[in-house]
Amino acid sequence: MTFLFFLVFCFVRAASTSNIVKYDSIYSFGDSLADTGNFLRSGALAFPVIGKLPYGETFFGHPTGRCSDGRLVIDFIAEAYGLPFVPPYLSLAEGQTPKHGVNFAVAGATALDAKFFIDKGVGQILWTNDSLSVQLGWFKKFKSTLCNTTKEGCNNYFKRALFLMGEIGGNDYNYPFFVGASINDMRAMVALVVKTIVEATTMLIEEGAVDLVVPGNLPIGCSAVYLTLFKSPNKTDYDQNGCLKVYNAFSKYHNSQLKLALEKLRQKYPQAKIIYADNYGAAKRIFHSPGHHGFLHGATRACCGGGGLYNFNNSARCGHTGSIACKSPSTYANWDGIHLTEAAYKYIATGLTSGTYTSPPLSSV
Ligand SMILES: *[C@@H]1O[C@H](CO)[C@@H](O)[C@H](O)[C@H]1NC(C)=O
Ligand SMILES: *[C@@H]1O[C@H](CO)[C@@H](O)[C@H](O)[C@H]1NC(C)=O
Ligand SMILES: *[C@@H]1O[C@H](CO)[C@@H](O)[C@H](O)[C@H]1NC(C)=O
Repeated sequence: MTFLFFLVFCFVRAASTSNIVKYDSIYSFGDSLADTGNFLRSGALAFPVIGKLPYGETFFGHPTGRCSDGRLVIDFIAEAYGLPFVPPYLSLAEGQTPKHGVNFAVAGATALDAKFFIDKGVGQILWTNDSLSVQLGWFKKFKSTLCNTTKEGCNNYFKRALFLMGEIGGNDYNYPFFVGASINDMRAMVALVVKTIVEATTMLIEEGAVDLVVPGNLPIGCSAVYLTLFKSPNKTDYDQNGCLKVYNAFSKYHNSQLKLALEKLRQKYPQAKIIYADNYGAAKRIFHSPGHHGFLHGATRACCGGGGLYNFNNSARCGHTGSIACKSPSTYANWDGIHLTEAAYKYIATGLTSGTYTSPPLSSV
């Protein structure tokens, strides 16, 4: 259960557009792959480890609430479009309406409501109750203030905004997997998780969003936490990259269901630009040939941790007593066992903003 303390996954994706479209703002929803400080401010934990060094050491020089040593994919997207880093919603003063967007993502968040997990008797494993519907509620509240104060109204403003719907949904599987759920149990949940993500995307379109990026899940079978927890004596359980095949296949299953659902959504809202971001594909290259991409220490071993084959030890997780951080995080892809390093996020972000791993592609900026 303590485990769950990590959870987080959030990726974000990128921006969009066919030719060179310039965005004025970014609105983001999701989990730890995208959270730029909400969890830290939410008060869900008294002494969150992400509020201490080495978190933030590489880029900011101090912890910001990001679950990494530095910038996340959303930060690199903001940079690519010449925008400032997207401020966390919970850092805003009452009534404050930043013009360049807001980040509603919360580390540990699920796509499904906390109630779903509470009803299943596993509510105590949740790291946060600020699920997607809570984040959408914050957005609506924010929008009512913003649109009251913006002269031209929100419609034109939102046409020049990039909406990042996730990554979200990874934790809906992480929590149950970490307490023993089977692959089959989780496959049975995929339809519901995907439906929830698509409904949230729909709501944003109804609220005026035009350009939206919806990312898929990462190859979780390559993550140090999964590799440690679900270690197998059977070599045939691993692919040629040393990743657990069944968990990667599960991510692919989620992603394929999400892509199908997005295709239906495009037919319903032809005026919207709904971009799928292939986090899996963008990240997979790192696991396939880490050294080739500068990850000289490989891709599956965490930079910061308390030992073990993958340097992930649940009793000495990154930031806790007994853990140490590596000297050169940029040569590792995995940061703390669950999250990736700034270097890996930068690599993934480039894959998305270049258009290679986004469909329809994001324009090169
Ligand atoms: C989530 O909500 C439940 C029910 O209100 C509460 O018991 C629990 O402490 C909350 N969890 C967190 C992490 O805030
Ligand atoms: C928007 O402005 C109107 C007129 O000033 C005010 O009555 C209303 O309460 C405002 N709405 C919000 C959500 O601030
Ligand atoms: C290893 O996995 C393969 C494929 O799933 C299976 O056929 C084989 O029986 C397993 N071997 C052992 C020793 O469990």
